[in-house]
Amino acid sequence: MSIGIPKGTFDVVPHEKDPELVWRESRLWQYLERAIRELVDAFYFEEIRTPIFERTELFQRGVGESSDVVSKEMYTFLDKGERSMTLRPEMTASVMRAFIEGQMHTEKPLHKLFYMGPMFRYDRPQAGRYRQFHQFGVEVIGGGMPEQDVEMIDMLFQLYRKLGLKDLELHLNTVGDPASRALFREALKKFLEHKKAMLSEDSKVRLEVNPLRILDSKEDCDHAALEGAPVLSDFLNEACKEHFEQVLEKLQLLGISYNINAKLVRGLDYYTKTVFEITAGKKGAQNALAGGGRYDGLLKTLGGPDLPGVGFSTGLERVLQTMLAQNVPLPARKGPTLLLIGLGERAENYCFKKAHALREEGVSVEVEYSSKKLKEKLRYADHIAACFVLIVGDNELEKGQAEVKAMESRKGQIIDLQGLRCSILEDLTHALS
Ligand code: HAM
Repeated sequence: MSIGIPKGTFDVVPHEKDPELVWRESRLWQYLERAIRELVDAFYFEEIRTPIFERTELFQRGVGESSDVVSKEMYTFLDKGERSMTLRPEMTASVMRAFIEGQMHTEKPLHKLFYMGPMFRYDRPQAGRYRQFHQFGVEVIGGGMPEQDVEMIDMLFQLYRKLGLKDLELHLNTVGDPASRALFREALKKFLEHKKAMLSEDSKVRLEVNPLRILDSKEDCDHAALEGAPVLSDFLNEACKEHFEQVLEKLQLLGISYNINAKLVRGLDYYTKTVFEITAGKKGAQNALAGGGRYDGLLKTLGGPDLPGVGFSTGLERVLQTMLAQNVPLPARKGPTLLLIGLGERAENYCFKKAHALREEGVSVEVEYSSKKLKEKLRYADHIAACFVLIVGDNELEKGQAEVKAMESRKGQIIDLQGLRCSILEDLTHALS
């Protein structure tokens, strides 16, 4: 019996037969990754890479024990030295750990870091939700200005628009600072204690550990219990209110429209002030494309300097799936520049050596080595979408010349076999198009 892939994971493959799963094709991942690299250059971010596993304690302290991610979804194991390790469920805590360990604050006042890579959450797999998924994210450390919050959102909008996504919606809220949140938490708890019987089983537990999480429950009974509940905005201090107003103002300056959602609290415990999520169309309503916000106290909680931070992550699977669902134009499959077909031993040797020389020049070359008939060899040229084909037999070797054929236009041109190099193929690209 063959061994299958673990539940909630997937392969990224060169070709996908199932039209529903085309988002798994590697050319689309590369296309998205290229767009991301252009974006981070434009906003001047530098890359950070951290280990895929960390000490479990980092996430317990960084993300928070009462969050679903830490309490239910972590892939935690003991290593051979009996130390508890966890596959990273997100990167913000890891970036903070690396920042503190590398004493990066001593280098310069502001740090703009980005990352791309796999994350792991043991959640119930469903459309758009995986146990191994991939995030692109950024963290800005050392900047407490509202402009920086808005740049996060602007960055995501620029990326999504460039990819052709439509119906983007920004959901925004402020969760204040720890002091105002503590006051609100008490008020909410007091209010809900009287309605405990109405709450879902999960929310009964949340009421004890983290009542704020009840706000973004999906259960109708929890919504009903929240009717008339105190609102966080009434508990905000002046500084937090002012920060949020500035964020809204700067969003307007960039022409980015927003929905303020007083119930948006996000699932991770480190947020302060601005929090946001971006969705795309109806499908996005349950599956956010991205989430982020400010986390001014996190670095200090983890033993680092007291510097503010803000960031976001976007799920690459969800972005690709939304691109397909919205029928955005996708990059064409790219074949090799040249397919060489040698007929007979001498010609095959010519092709073998010529492929070596052209590849050294950086040309993408494929050689057809099979013993199939010429017709079938040519079918292979179509199949791999080669730009040019060169068929060489004894006759051509004798004359020292052969015809290069452009597969799309079906036009051809005789070339000198010895002189075939990168520049000749570049000239032919124009001549035979
Ligand atoms: P998050 O909201 O947990 O935030 O995840 C961010 C994004 O990752 C989600 O909007 C979604 O696109 C994707 N995602 C999350 N879980 C899954 C899953 N199981 N399957 C597929 N995609 C998923 C964070 O991770 C924070 N670290 C974001 C942040 C950075 N806040 C500040 N800096």
